[in-house]
Amino acid sequence: MLNSLWKEAELSSESATPCWEIFHESSKTGHYDGALTNNQVVEEMSNLYDVFPYKQFPSIKLPDTFAPVRRTFLEAVQNRVTPMQISAEKLSLEQLKTILYCGYGVTRDNADNEYIKRPFRTVPSGGALYPLELYFYVHDTVEGLEPGVYHYAPTENAVQLIKPGIHDEQIAEALVSFQTHLAYDTSLLIFITAVFNRSVFKYKEKGYRFALLEAGHVAQNINLAATALDLGVINIGGFHDRLVDRFMEIDGLNHATIYMNGICKRN
Ligand SMILES: Cc1cc2nc3c(=O)[nH]c(=O)nc-3n(C[C@H](O)[C@H](O)[C@H](O)COP(=O)(O)O)c2cc1C
Repeated sequence: MLNSLWKEAELSSESATPCWEIFHESSKTGHYDGALTNNQVVEEMSNLYDVFPYKQFPSIKLPDTFAPVRRTFLEAVQNRVTPMQISAEKLSLEQLKTILYCGYGVTRDNADNEYIKRPFRTVPSGGALYPLELYFYVHDTVEGLEPGVYHYAPTENAVQLIKPGIHDEQIAEALVSFQTHLAYDTSLLIFITAVFNRSVFKYKEKGYRFALLEAGHVAQNINLAATALDLGVINIGGFHDRLVDRFMEIDGLNHATIYMNGICKRN
């Protein structure tokens, strides 16, 4: 019986093994995998940014206060939905801050921890390594922010304007054809990117999986925050990766866009 099951599971030489299967198999944790010591991890982490600094770009402070929420936690969970119609509405800086903070904000500075040197966030992270970065694009849709692409600097409660200007057309080209309109119709387009080495130096192939899982945590917090604020939210996997990464001016290998979320009017 067992033999025949194995036979069925055996990969036929006629069919190419799908890449995902090879990856899934290769990224499994085994009993005899070597692991770095705590000191080696701390040493490696000291060579990696916890957040990209973007020091040369103008930094804009976010408010210390949050926007008032319109729903309880349970109501936010029950009412999250992808809107049927997408249209933009102007957001306040407090709404922006609330969404970014819930997504990937800092909750504890963790300064006196001997081994874990990263400030903790609103989402969990394998090994507290926080491999993600958040960027967002606005037209004239957030009070007090000029149009452009911004980077979220959670440790400073600030954002940096890294690519000023209206870039609707370039973003539209990077979205799959049935949803190019999202480039024009959303108030805020969030790009969740992963700096894979921040996780894979420790967890190897499994670290890649962790980066994707963690993007899900961030996205869900963004979804619930937007819903609690009575805004619409759409999750976007349908984008041309190379075009988005080119637009974001990141290499797409060591640092790549893995998920996008649009914030819009709720209907
Ligand atoms: C990983 C992922 C990628 C998605 N990508 C898109 C997308 O590119 N465009 C879109 O309109 N919806 C996208 N969605 C939204 C789903 O279509 C939607 O969540 C699903 O139809 C269920 O509907 P609901 O969100 O209203 O519950 C995506 C959802 C997930 C989880």
